Amino acid sequence: MSLGKIIHKQDNELSKRIDKQKVPEHVAIIMDGNGRWAIKKGLPRSYGHKKGVKVLKEILKASKKLGCKVLTVYAFSTENWTRPTKEVDFLINLFTEVLRNEIDEIHKESTKIKFIGDLSPFPETLKKIISSSESQTKNNNKFLLNVCVNYGGRQEIVKVAKELALKSSSGEIKACEVNEELFNSELLTGGIKDPELLIRTSGEKRISNFLLWQLAYSEIYISDVLWPDFNEVEFLKAIIDYQSRNRRFGGIESLPNESFKDSQYSS
Ligand code: FPP
Repeated sequence: MSLGKIIHKQDNELSKRIDKQKVPEHVAIIMDGNGRWAIKKGLPRSYGHKKGVKVLKEILKASKKLGCKVLTVYAFSTENWTRPTKEVDFLINLFTEVLRNEIDEIHKESTKIKFIGDLSPFPETLKKIISSSESQTKNNNKFLLNVCVNYGGRQEIVKVAKELALKSSSGEIKACEVNEELFNSELLTGGIKDPELLIRTSGEKRISNFLLWQLAYSEIYISDVLWPDFNEVEFLKAIIDYQSRNRRFGGIESLPNESFKDSQYSS
């Protein structure tokens, strides 16, 4: 059997195990391992990033097929500027090229694309194509793709704190009106539902300054697979694992009252 047929078969088998009623609406992904994947193959790191784009397209398709509504991916962190200039330039050109080639398809699929992060240090060509892609797709309502670039969770929280402090000192709001709801609405994610699931590839067990506020109660799934080898099958495995979790949000599993009475702590 060919590799394609094996993947298709695995895919079908995993799909059957998915509870359609419990599909996460919002999935966040740290796409990690592009560089290591390329080096392991004796290729320049840029090959890993190129393959990473293909994988992102596959996962975007898979998440739509499953019934997810939002995908938020970490494409460039505030720390990524410390990489060699050649790699940073390559990534900037890649983002530009991908948008140029893919935006019509994204629009046709009724997907809205949004870039999250401080875009100011990027070159004009990238800023222009980001702006035109966002405005072309702004009324699409089937799916939302958030791409985090030059993004940092701490920076985002500080930005909101500054904005609220300014609004308070100008009298627009009272300090006592600052609450989670107001804070959330000022975040770069604009008050959308928090991700129910965070996937990180390449086996690293860190959040790495990604969506610090929004991930407060997200389930975390670490895949050992490097991002360029990630695929629909691996994505479905993450969803199945997520569906097996008992999400308690700091509470306890609902137990019949009797169980509490019988417990050693009841009076
Ligand atoms: C992490 O791997 C990946 C990145 C820093 C870049 C991810 C970007 C893409 C997949 C392109 C997305 C494009 C658009 C337009 C959304 P790494 O380089 O940190 O890998 P390593 O940890 O093995 O070094």
